[in-house]
Amino acid sequence: MSKARLLMPGSTIGIVGGGQLGQMMALRAKYMGFRVGVLDPTPDCPAAQVGDWQIEADYDDTDAIRQLAERSDVLTYEFENVDADALDAVSDIVEIPQGTDLLRVTQDRIQEKTFINKHGIGTAPWRPVNDMDDLRAAVAEIGLPAVLKTTRGGYDGHGQFVLRDDADIDRVAQVRPWAGDFAPSILEGFVDFAYEASILVSGNGEQYVTYPVVRNIHRNNILHITIAPAEEAADPSSPLAQAARDLALRLASGFQLAGTLAIELFVLRDGRVLVNELAPRPHNSGHYTIEACSIDQFEAHVRGIVGWPLPEPRLLSPAVMVNVLGQHVAPTRALIATHPEWFTHDYGKAEVKHDRKMGHITVLTDDPAAEAARLEATGCWDDLKKD
Ligand SMILES: Nc1ncnc2c1ncn2[C@@H]1O[C@H](COP(=O)(O)OP(=O)(O)O)[C@@H](O)[C@H]1O
Ligand SMILES: [Mg+2]
Repeated sequence: MSKARLLMPGSTIGIVGGGQLGQMMALRAKYMGFRVGVLDPTPDCPAAQVGDWQIEADYDDTDAIRQLAERSDVLTYEFENVDADALDAVSDIVEIPQGTDLLRVTQDRIQEKTFINKHGIGTAPWRPVNDMDDLRAAVAEIGLPAVLKTTRGGYDGHGQFVLRDDADIDRVAQVRPWAGDFAPSILEGFVDFAYEASILVSGNGEQYVTYPVVRNIHRNNILHITIAPAEEAADPSSPLAQAARDLALRLASGFQLAGTLAIELFVLRDGRVLVNELAPRPHNSGHYTIEACSIDQFEAHVRGIVGWPLPEPRLLSPAVMVNVLGQHVAPTRALIATHPEWFTHDYGKAEVKHDRKMGHITVLTDDPAAEAARLEATGCWDDLKKD
């Protein structure tokens, strides 16, 4: 892809997927004067509540994707499991500045890790694994502990199995999706990281800008808290900030990135950084940018796909972001009246479910670690407490 075509306000952006990421993209796009159409099977989905129109159909409905393309000037997506062939099939009638290579690479852990390593960037050691014999051979090479991951379709820890000892190898043959027809997978060495982090990079196909490195705390494989910036990266000239920025810019130019790309990182105890995985879209760990940065990850995404220039994002204040899952909706609402410092986001999802991302709260603060402790002390997130 080369530079995205410059589109003017009044043009229509079509988004495949209408969840919270699509909603926040749509909100920014509306501020900028664009029209927004959404493809999502759920009536009145979060993005449709703020967009101009919705096509109610499944994401992989090729007729619906064609309809979305016909009614839009540019197409984007809010998640990576979109049918790349279906997008290619409409590329003659609509702009798709992100292209489909980025999508194909990030949909497949083998392609993704190959791409990252090819750009001289470290990952956990990994091997493709397609049956139990491959698995034994890979364990012999990589050692234990290790993580088995399906090559495609995983999210929030789904499609993963941690192997700690030899007995776990045989257990794999009994659990889905490896029992019976063995799901194509990779085995990754288990990284003894100091903590997890991420960095966002946005581009318009020829110019790329990065965001601060943030620290991410997961519970049950779901993002819980983001601390912005990560303490060791608060100084932009720190080794961590520089290493992350450097790898982000290398990946962005490797993809000729248009839009926002999130890069999940492992920060090792010796300070080195490895890339865990890529998400070719705005990311939960970047929600803090809405209040804390001079341009947020959604506006950067929209600018990138409509070919606008990108200002260098500035962190206006350190921040902490905490997710509001289904079980946190009632306890956090009960405290809204007493927390003027909470920037409360609710995605407007009709159905409240346990572990479902319903919203998030961002707090601007000079001491994000202390604020994170204050949030925890409210008790709203006690179900996630580790013993
Ligand atoms: N190789 C690894 N070593 C240690 N922890 C890992 C490894 N791979 C994944 N994890 C843990 O599992 C989480 C989810 O894995 P990830 O590959 O990011 O999949 P998902 O697509 O589900 O986000 C990571 O955020 C990290 O906490
Ligand atoms: Mg992940």
